[in-house]
Order: sequence, then structure tokens, then C-alpha cells
Amino acid sequence: MFTEVAQNLFVLSEPLSFYGFQIGRKMIVVRLPNGDLFVNSPAELTAERIEALNDLGTVRYVTPSSKLHGHLYMEDYARTFPEVELFAAPDLDRRRTDLAFDGLLGSSPDPRWADVLDQTAFLGHRWLTEIEFFHVPSGTLILGDVCYNLGPEVPLKTQLFARLLGMYGDVSVPLDLRYTMKNEAAGRRSVERILDWDFERVIVGHGRIVERDAKRRVRDAFEWLV
Ligand SMILES: [Fe+2]
Repeated sequence: MFTEVAQNLFVLSEPLSFYGFQIGRKMIVVRLPNGDLFVNSPAELTAERIEALNDLGTVRYVTPSSKLHGHLYMEDYARTFPEVELFAAPDLDRRRTDLAFDGLLGSSPDPRWADVLDQTAFLGHRWLTEIEFFHVPSGTLILGDVCYNLGPEVPLKTQLFARLLGMYGDVSVPLDLRYTMKNEAAGRRSVERILDWDFERVIVGHGRIVERDAKRRVRDAFEWLV
């Protein structure tokens, strides 16, 4: 059910239809050195998934990427796992007033996961303030919606949609995001902070995982900005 893409780094990929386009989605689980699990962009829970998570460790921290990506089902995690803490991305606490958050995500990691995961906010966009994570031991960048990586594996209609948004075939930033920046200097600083990390792999919220040379490909994806 979970793919171990690196030691202590697991991904669950599942279908997601976005207005009829099959873009898929990913849930990421990082096992911390003490056995606690850090979950990003949680997937809907099923009996099998609960069992699989319990086999991996103790579900402790549940995080979205942004107020738009990865905040569904958080309430189910709070109900199912007694030791869980929910974290809000910027503005998610105002959007999901039904949830009781234990903390807010920003540009520095919580000390309880900082040994393994660094993080920064992608700033400067009109509505998307996304938290990007870097899994240090495996050299993996974890993104939500700022980059997609859709290719021939998706249906033709979705390929066309990806082409129209300038995000077909490689790691790329959707055109609608590029054209709706509010503060390009802030965006540039965010990308520079991300490119300071020493990553070889990138996991995007929608699309294929890149296992090699990810830094060059992410740099290329942001060439319009940096
Ligand atoms: Fe998303």
C-alpha cells in the first residue's frame, strides 16, 4: 500500500479527479527516529490504511501543504489516532474552523521533526502560501501544488489539460500560478531557499516522483522567476 521510496520515507499514491482530469494525489509519511510518523497531505482512512500506518509507527503529526492541498480527512486522523497533533498551513485555520489545530506551519520546522525535516513557506503568490518540506536523510524535496509532473501515464484529456497549463512532461509550475504572483521578489527568495537544500529526489502532490537530478529540474521549472 505504501511505497518506501527511501529509508523512513513512504508514499501512498491514489487517483484524484480534478474537474474530470486525472491528476492523482500523494500522501507522504516520514518516520522520525523515535518511531513517530509525520504525515503530509493525508489520504482518506480505511481499515487497511489504518493498519498499514500502525505498522509503520505512531501517527503523531498531520500536516497539509497549503490551505488548498492536503487538508481533507485531517479530522479522521484526529479521531482515529489518539496521539495525533494537527497542524495548519497559512490561512487554513480560518478555512477549517471545524478543526482544532495544535500548531501552525511556517518557515522553520517544529523542533520535534527538525532533525529530519526542514521546511519553508513559498511566499509571494496571491492565494497559495504553501509549506515545502525537505527530508534531509534521503535528500527529498516534498512539494504540494507549486509543481506538477504529469506525463504519458495520464489519460489523453489530462495530457492536453497539462499542456495547456504549461506543465506537461517534466516538473513544472502551472501557468495560472506563474501569472498570479503578487510579489515576485518574495517568490524568488522562497525558491532560492528551496534550492539551497541538497535534494536529489522531488515528490510533487500531483504527478510522478523524480528520483534523479531533481534539483536541476526544479530550478528549470522556476526559470521564469529566478
Ligand atoms: Fe493539490
